[in-house]
Amino acid sequence: MTKRLNIEIKATHSLTPNLVVDQVKGVVGHHNLTLTGPDTHGVIRLNIEATDQEIDCCLTLLGKALPKGCDITYFVEKEDVDAPIKGVLTIDDTLAILPSNLSQKGVPRKGAHHTFPIEITIDCHDSFGHGGHPSTLGMLKALLRLTKGGLIADRSALDVGTGSGVLAIAALKLGANSVVGIDIDGASIKEAYKNAHINQCPPEKVRFLLASCKDFPLDGFDLVLANIVPGVRREFLSNRGLYHMPQDGIVLISGGKIGDNDYIDQMEKHLGFKCIDRIEVRGWLTTCFRRR
Ligand SMILES: C[S@@+](CC[C@H](N)C(=O)[O-])C[C@H]1O[C@@H](n2cnc3c(N)ncnc32)[C@H](O)[C@@H]1O
Repeated sequence: MTKRLNIEIKATHSLTPNLVVDQVKGVVGHHNLTLTGPDTHGVIRLNIEATDQEIDCCLTLLGKALPKGCDITYFVEKEDVDAPIKGVLTIDDTLAILPSNLSQKGVPRKGAHHTFPIEITIDCHDSFGHGGHPSTLGMLKALLRLTKGGLIADRSALDVGTGSGVLAIAALKLGANSVVGIDIDGASIKEAYKNAHINQCPPEKVRFLLASCKDFPLDGFDLVLANIVPGVRREFLSNRGLYHMPQDGIVLISGGKIGDNDYIDQMEKHLGFKCIDRIEVRGWLTTCFRRR
């Protein structure tokens, strides 16, 4: 069972972010750790996804590496990472996902001591998408990279298989001009609307529709997000609208394991896209394509 370990350490001249990463990357690998900071208070934050044994090993190694008097605060989420998140899920310095109980006033914020510029609250009872699944995490990380490259602002986004609406809401908060989320599951559409409301998304900028990716018209969208299982991905890739996406249009695809990547060839050779980014999270692959 994989758990999430959230660590906060105050950086000093002898405890640099590089030193911290060097201690743990040998245990959990590069892809399973996220390092942010130091922030304005000099605090480094590390999120690690690992087994119990690996977590013990990381904490021992970090303990040994810490200079005298250096404080380390950590919190291990007890549940499997695929189960609903209970604490603050840090994606990076700027973005965190919170389960709805944590966003209420006065509730202790397990896993983070400060607020983030963008915090998305997700209620996820009848839908998929609490944010912590590796395929969703990959999408959130990819969205952040696109944002840093100036490639989200003002785009019209489509979120295919929206589930809880987490990716649609993230795209909007990161600067997309508008977003449409589609799903074949009515309960998901209802929950996505509820989450958009909780997160104060302007109603004129968000719509969730009961529709299938197979034949939903893609024209008018220049950012398409698709975290869907491989079988549904095949249906999505047969949507003729992909041929007509605008020059510079971006498509993010997730929902499959690293080895399951034949679709990259299809996107590049037959659909006219170029793969511009790949993110791997615990064996799951997220890919980012740009229309040539
Ligand atoms: C892996 S979940 C992704 C949820 C959320 N977007 C996330 O990233 O966490 C995939 C979603 O696709 C939906 N789905 C399945 N088949 C579909 C189809 N043909 N068209 C649109 N959505 C579909 C499912 O109901 C489910 O909510």
